Amino acid sequence: MVPNDTFFDRLAEDYDRIFASELGRTEEQVDFAVRVLGIHIGQRVLDICCGTGRHALALAKRGYVVTAVDRSAAMLAVAGRKAEAQGTHVQWVEADARLLPPLPPFAGATCFFNSWGYTADLVQDGMILTSVAKRLHPGSRLVLDVPNETWLRNRPHGIHRAVGNGIAIREERSYDVVEQMLQTNWTIIRPHMPHHQAVFRCRVYCLDQIESMLTRAGLVLDMAFGGFQGEPLTALGPRCIAVARRPILPF
Ligand SMILES: C[S@@+](CC[C@H](N)C(=O)[O-])C[C@H]1O[C@@H](n2cnc3c(N)ncnc32)[C@H](O)[C@@H]1O
Repeated sequence: MVPNDTFFDRLAEDYDRIFASELGRTEEQVDFAVRVLGIHIGQRVLDICCGTGRHALALAKRGYVVTAVDRSAAMLAVAGRKAEAQGTHVQWVEADARLLPPLPPFAGATCFFNSWGYTADLVQDGMILTSVAKRLHPGSRLVLDVPNETWLRNRPHGIHRAVGNGIAIREERSYDVVEQMLQTNWTIIRPHMPHHQAVFRCRVYCLDQIESMLTRAGLVLDMAFGGFQGEPLTALGPRCIAVARRPILPF
């Protein structure tokens, strides 16, 4: 049990409103994934840490056969309701990505938006990669979208405010460069409700560390980008998007 275990359960019903601007980038992110994964309509795709299902639903609507995994029952409940309302089929699986159940192999996998780095340590974060690697067809790829450690290192503190959709949020970020731990303190303000305070902590890895962890998991780092239009990874952008492949021959 780690402190983050219930964070998303408590946030689930408000997640899509809180991250409305991020939700607006879903199609761009899915375009990117389809391109770099090299997947074709009708193929099986795995979305791990799927949250309220924005990428899983977008992929399924495009004709991919999607399995989406999250350990938060509350996030999956929101995802399931959206799928039903949209008449879209996704296989929702409530599971910890470290210990995925047996599933037929996938042509590609995705893990979007600060979803990796919540476990107790590096070994367990690595277990998630191993678990995904085992479920990919040889030659198939994973897109792993995480915060850019080099960017954070240069901007360890930040305050962000957002208002809209009947909700106001104050987000205070602090990054411990030694522990490589990102802590975000949230204050969520909704009309006629007590303020909701939440803290979440996420381990952030630099690209070299990600590459070694991918290698240990049996994957090869193919490409890394700083944005979903294929921008190069530099110290100037907040995202690090690693694209890794399960080799056809074991090494
Ligand atoms: C920031 S949300 C991102 C959700 C979604 N990928 C998106 O882009 O909107 C992180 C999600 O990862 C899930 N998560 C974190 N660690 C996990 C794990 N070990 N296994 C399964 N789900 C996990 C959380 O429950 C949460 O829904």
